[in-house]
Amino acid sequence: MSALRKLSVTGPPVVVSAGSLAQLGAEIAAVAPAFRYAIITDSIVGPLYAERLAGSFPDPTSVSVLTISAGESHKTRDSWATLTDQLSSTGHGRDTVIVALGGGMVGDLAGFVAATYMRGISLIHVPTSLLAMVDSAHGGKTGVDTTGGKNLVGAFHPATAIFIDSEVLATLPLREFQSGLAEILKHGIVQDVQYFADVVAELPGLLSQSGVSGDTLARLIVRSVEIKTEIVARDEREYGLRKILNFGHTLGHGIEAASGYSLLHGEAVAIGMCAEARAAERAGIAEAGTAEAVREAVCLAGLPTALPLSVSVERVMQLARADKKKRSGEIEYALPERVGRMAGRDSGWTLPLPDTLVQEVLQ
Ligand SMILES: NC(=O)c1ccc[n+]([C@@H]2O[C@H](COP(=O)([O-])OP(=O)(O)OC[C@H]3O[C@@H](n4cnc5c(N)ncnc54)[C@H](O)[C@@H]3O)[C@@H](O)[C@H]2O)c1
Ligand SMILES: [Zn+2]
Repeated sequence: MSALRKLSVTGPPVVVSAGSLAQLGAEIAAVAPAFRYAIITDSIVGPLYAERLAGSFPDPTSVSVLTISAGESHKTRDSWATLTDQLSSTGHGRDTVIVALGGGMVGDLAGFVAATYMRGISLIHVPTSLLAMVDSAHGGKTGVDTTGGKNLVGAFHPATAIFIDSEVLATLPLREFQSGLAEILKHGIVQDVQYFADVVAELPGLLSQSGVSGDTLARLIVRSVEIKTEIVARDEREYGLRKILNFGHTLGHGIEAASGYSLLHGEAVAIGMCAEARAAERAGIAEAGTAEAVREAVCLAGLPTALPLSVSVERVMQLARADKKKRSGEIEYALPERVGRMAGRDSGWTLPLPDTLVQEVLQ
């Protein structure tokens, strides 16, 4: 196991290491002492890692494992009901800590279970996808999707701590890894041009057979976590600044749902970032060249840059209108001024764009 890196972030402690999973139970018990632990995981991650994690607790008999079917289509109120019923029928009380072991889908769903079960119990995140490690496990947003759209029912419920073992990425499918790269690129675009350049330079290595060193990957994870948690610390409830993290997501969430979830979250966000950057440039908000820089990076990450023909632009717009990022009827977007700097400081970090322009860049 590599040395544990405890990040000095504002907010819950984040610990990054390679190979720590088999010791995490003891660490979790130390930061979140409890009578019982309920590991919530999915049908792909569970068989790979749940036993190892459960066995690492000082008292493995205090740990139960609850498994739901993998995939975004299971991030639903039904799964939430199944899990909360299972917790109560097996006698879990308020002295239970929920441990979310999985990608962002498990994290959001298990987080919402923790936020609501018995009016809220403690939560620990053990993210296993790149996307969850760098993004979804941080910042306290939890929730489920409804037929009306993504994450429409949820709560803010920050974890007590987040433990990242980057070695579990060895089993993550390449397509899922690339999906996580979309959020990493986003962190550079919204906040740190140097980091963006650094990530772009590492992309060929990150995607090659031989890969990059574990250290490079850990360094990128750490910087992304720093960027996200710094922004969240300044605006936890998303009244203003935190909205910059929604870059690519106003359209991205619509694209993801309109594709029937055949596009992964990061893929939809990648298309959303390209379209929103293009619209920002055409509207005179972003400097010339911004959209091309975003598109090139997305392309280099092996992510899609344009809407597939099978996804209807009208449906995307309809879903974007139903999304939360809307004010007095107009869709608001988090838009770049240039790579590393977002626009809209004086208007709460979002700006409206004419629907016709957005439809045009989505075509
Ligand atoms: N709460 C937030 O702030 C926030 C931020 C960004 C995204 N999200 C949400 O996160 C979700 C997307 O997260 P995701 O991309 O991690 O999806 P996911 O959780 O569905 O995981 C992707 C796939 O990879 C599998 N997997 C995960 N880790 C693995 C591993 N180590 N080895 C093998 N397989 C593994 C999963 O079983 C799943 O099939 C979306 O629901 C999105 O809305 C939330
Ligand atoms: Zn996202």
